[in-house]
Amino acid sequence: MIARLDLAATADLKKALPHFAHGPVAHLSHLSPEQVVAYWLDEITEELADESSVAFAARGRELIEGLVLYADSPWDTKVVGRRIGSLKYVAEGDGARNSAVLDDLLDEVIRHAASCGMECLTCKVQPLHFAAIHALERHGFLLMDTILDFVFDFSRTPLEGISIPKRANGLTTRLARPEDLSEVLAVSEKAFANHFGRYNSDPKMPYGTATEVYREWVHSSFCGWADWILVAEIEGRIAGFGVWKKASTLEVRHALKLVHYNLAGVHPDFSGRGIYTVLAADGMQMTQSFARYLDGPVHVSNYPVHRALQKLSWRIAGARHSFHKWLKA
Ligand SMILES: CC(C)(COP(=O)(O)OP(=O)(O)OC[C@H]1O[C@@H](n2cnc3c(N)ncnc32)[C@H](O)[C@@H]1OP(=O)(O)O)[C@@H](O)C(=O)NCCC(=O)NCCS
Repeated sequence: MIARLDLAATADLKKALPHFAHGPVAHLSHLSPEQVVAYWLDEITEELADESSVAFAARGRELIEGLVLYADSPWDTKVVGRRIGSLKYVAEGDGARNSAVLDDLLDEVIRHAASCGMECLTCKVQPLHFAAIHALERHGFLLMDTILDFVFDFSRTPLEGISIPKRANGLTTRLARPEDLSEVLAVSEKAFANHFGRYNSDPKMPYGTATEVYREWVHSSFCGWADWILVAEIEGRIAGFGVWKKASTLEVRHALKLVHYNLAGVHPDFSGRGIYTVLAADGMQMTQSFARYLDGPVHVSNYPVHRALQKLSWRIAGARHSFHKWLKA
């Protein structure tokens, strides 16, 4: 039986979640299963407090057997100019009888999103979560990209032990100032001009969406979304930037001791001169008293970034596929 799940059902969820695989924060492998479940429950509770979010559960005889959580994506909707929502979880318990549980949940949530006027649904799933991947594909979702989650652990690798490549002559980094916004926007526009993320690979995204997404991301970073923006200067010009963000309130509550490396770009005039590597290394110095772990999502085929992070002792610790389904042509 598929039923809408409200906050009153938290106790049922608490019983069910330990039987669900592929939970959140999978890239933080040091967390115990109990910590992951506690974080997950808290995250679902927080999501459901938002009026636009809706969870549906498949109820078995004893336990909840499956869960799907829908939330509006106001940021995507604003930037893309089409109404976009996301499926935060498509999850099934080990007691779920068969794939029908996920099919029924997806039928229900797609109906709900369509009735709210949504035009596109997005969903991120872990690559070994084949039950969810196949159910999404059966429902017309298409793979758009794969992100690797890189993690750096300060307790395992003290910064003094890392050999940081020599920096190019005249290259310095500093925190961005508000007046740098237009120059950083110009760098970002050039850096991401031929990018290949999910906004680029989805042919149904309106023309120019990807450019607008990175533009808005930089803009909101300067307007308070980010906690630190580092810029790299060379020859009197801003050649690159890196955006870092402190742990969220939820992450702090669960003592995840994280800082996120969210976005970076280097002007093509300066590429291959170690600027990204220096921005990452200086960011690691800057954030080390705020975190035990750093994490950063990187597109699966962004090899320059993989190489730079691996050289700085970051490791691939997780991955997520992004799917999109357009409900309206
Ligand atoms: C990806 C990007 C940040 C790299 O910046 P960069 O300053 O040129 O990178 P670096 O010079 O520090 O090089 C990093 C590593 O990648 C290697 N590299 C550089 N360009 C490469 C390429 N086209 N293909 C493969 N490897 C490459 C470098 O040789 C270096 O490895 P090495 O130290 O083993 O030699 C930059 O090209 C860019 O802004 N791209 C678009 C935006 C983007 O992808 N941002 C990051 C994700 S948010």
